[in-house]
Formats: sequence, structure tokens, C-alpha cells
Amino acid sequence: MPLRRFSEWTTLPAMIEHLYAHIPFCPKVCPYCSFYKEAGDRNKTRAFLDAMLAEAEKYASVLQPRTIFFGGGTPSALSTPQLEFLLGGLRERIDFPRVTEWTLEMNPATVSLEKARALVGLGVNRISMGVQSWDDGLLQTLGRVHSAAQAGRSYRILRDAGCANVNLDLIFGIPGQTTEQWRASLERTIALDPDHISAYCLTYEEDTDFFLRLQRGEMRPDEERDAALFELTMDVLGEAGYAQYEISNYARAGRECRHNLAYWTAADYVGLGPSAFSTVGESRWKNVSDTADYVRRVNAAEDTADFRETVDPRIRRAEQLAFALRTSEGIADVGQWSGEIQNLRAAGYLEPRGDGWVLTRAGKLVADAIAETFV
Ligand SMILES: C[S@@+](CC[C@H](N)C(=O)[O-])C[C@H]1O[C@@H](n2cnc3c(N)ncnc32)[C@H](O)[C@@H]1O
Ligand code: SF4
Repeated sequence: MPLRRFSEWTTLPAMIEHLYAHIPFCPKVCPYCSFYKEAGDRNKTRAFLDAMLAEAEKYASVLQPRTIFFGGGTPSALSTPQLEFLLGGLRERIDFPRVTEWTLEMNPATVSLEKARALVGLGVNRISMGVQSWDDGLLQTLGRVHSAAQAGRSYRILRDAGCANVNLDLIFGIPGQTTEQWRASLERTIALDPDHISAYCLTYEEDTDFFLRLQRGEMRPDEERDAALFELTMDVLGEAGYAQYEISNYARAGRECRHNLAYWTAADYVGLGPSAFSTVGESRWKNVSDTADYVRRVNAAEDTADFRETVDPRIRRAEQLAFALRTSEGIADVGQWSGEIQNLRAAGYLEPRGDGWVLTRAGKLVADAIAETFV
């Protein structure tokens, strides 16, 4: 039976310019992470890769990506031949000439020179590596599979292999983390001169081991400390020349992640793989969060999504504002929310910029709460 084509379940749109692919495997599952992933039955990986390529083919007629993002999970958990099969297969199935940014997420434990060289050869031109911390004790708290030294070696390997655009992910607000430890992690990161730094505050996500430990009272978030660490992040990275172009993201000039900017400016995108979201016009859907079921559905030519909705235009607009407000571009056309905007300005959380509005420093500290006033 032929696969159903995209056009059968939506009348939208002409061309989609942003593609996400979710690789649901990890070397080891981290106790704080709620992204869909599994330790992975390596005997079934080939079936998964075939399914993802078949899903990509389904969208071939409406995809002309400008950005591609391979996330997870941990795409680098795939072996070099598997990555060559998948990425090479994707190149054969969809239009590639317009791709300007192709990111792939890596865990420091799964970086090798051979793999990094192969990725560069296949056209991947941006690597995002999860370092999280340069402190071995805190890496242990996070249940990470690598040491700080290994992350340093992996970074060098990426550069030696010719990866010209590298992001490093860091996490702050880790239980037991001191201000000095966080400052040291920021400084050690800056010393490596990555092109981009993502600095996330640890969140206690449902369905994670950390969340259970929080509920049992074994862990206690410290909001005041987290706010101080966030302020320190803005200061230290700002002084080092990294522009905060989104609440958690800092980049050298011209190194902003174009794929994530597309999300934040509400562009259409299609997601491949289990648990991947897609948003096209007012249609939104999410693939089933189960690799075996995903593979089965693709092979049976069934809908891979187990959730679909038509988003009310007002809600979509509110979401757009909430996302855009987190960026340094801010928002311009505030439509029906002018009352909320004035209240936020009066509270000192927004300031005018050009013909729009951006968050003040005080506003950045409560960005999540501000987003909720719109949605
Ligand atoms: C999907 S992971 C990809 C990177 C790769 N799997 C790794 O961990 O090295 C993307 C990033 O999300 C961040 N992250 C995941 N769970 C988080 C949480 N609960 N709180 C804050 N950041 C989190 C981490 O910084 C991680 O590097
Ligand atoms: S943080 Fe990365 S390596 Fe850890 S479980 Fe999440 S996706 Fe996997």
C-alpha cells in the first residue's frame, strides 16, 4: 500500500522550509530529561532508519528545507555507517539546494573523529553538544555518562574535524551547585570559544526521576539562587561577546540558530520520527512517542501521529507573541493584547524598542510567567 501523502490530511501550504528529525536513542538515560528516548535495541535500529526515510519521502513534495535539525534523544548515538545511511538517504529523498543550516545534536560520549568527519562530509554544518557542566561532581549528580575531560576532548575533535559552527549546552540550577561552580563552567566554556552557548535552568519535568525525587522531598529547587545564576549568565556571557538573542541562547554575531529562530517566529515546520511535533498553518500534530509503534505505523501506511489539532488563530497568535517576546527581536504587532502590554510595561517588565516591545532585565527573570499572560 502506498504511503499517504501529506496533502491528504491538510490543504496547507506551498512549501515547508524547516525540518526536524528526532533520533530517540541515548547512550544512557539522564534522570532529569523528559525528551522521548530509549536505551535502544540496536537490532531494531535499521528498521527505525528505514521508517524515518520513508516518512521523509512522504513529505518530499512539500519540503524545501532551509534549516534541518537532528535532535533527540542523541543523534550521535547512531554509528557512523548508520548516520551515513540516514543522512545520505535523506539527501536522496528531499530537495537540498536551499539548506543553509544543518544541526546535529551530540553527546560528548558519542563523538569520534571518524563520525565528526563523516557528518561534515554529509553536509552537517552545525553541531550542538550537551556539556551541561564542567564539574565532574555535578555531572554525576546529573547522571551524565561522560566526564568534563571527555567533553573537552570531544570539543577538540569536533574542531579538528572541521566543524565550524558549534553550540555547547549548559545547565544551571543543579542541586548543590554554587555560584563559583557556575561561573567556572561559564568561563571554561568561553575559553573554548564556541560559536553559540545554550544555558538552561534545570527544570523538574514530569515523568523524570528528578521529578519523583522532588516530590519525595529529596531535592529542593532554589528559585532565588537560580535567578542569581541566570543574572550571572547574562553578565558573564554578555561581557565575553555572546549576544543573548533568546532567554536561554547566546551567540556570536551571525551564529544564532536559524532553525530555533524559525520556531520562535512561528514558521511552519515538519518533524520526523517518534514524538516529533509538526506545525503547518493552523494544523499541528505529534507523532506517536513509541519507536516500535512509529515503525509499525510507517510500514502499515498508517498515520504516524497520535495527536492532531487545528489551532485557533487567536491561540496561535498568542503563542507567537509568547515565543517572540523571549527573543531579542521582541514583538511589534500586539493586536488585542495592548492592555496586557501596558500592564507589563508599568510593572517594569517590558520596554519599547523601535516600534515594538522587548523584555527588560527584570522581565527576563520572569519570562515564563509573562508568557502565560498571553496564552
Ligand atoms: C535533547 S538534549 C540533546 C543533547 C544530547 N542528548 C546530550 O544530552 O548531550 C538537549 C539539551 O536539553 C537540555 N535539557 C534536557 N533536559 C533538561 C532539563 N530538565 N532542564 C534543563 N535543560 C534540559 C540539556 O542541556 C540538553 O543538552
Ligand atoms: S539529556 Fe540528552 S543524553 Fe540525556 S537523556 Fe536527554 S536526550 Fe538523552
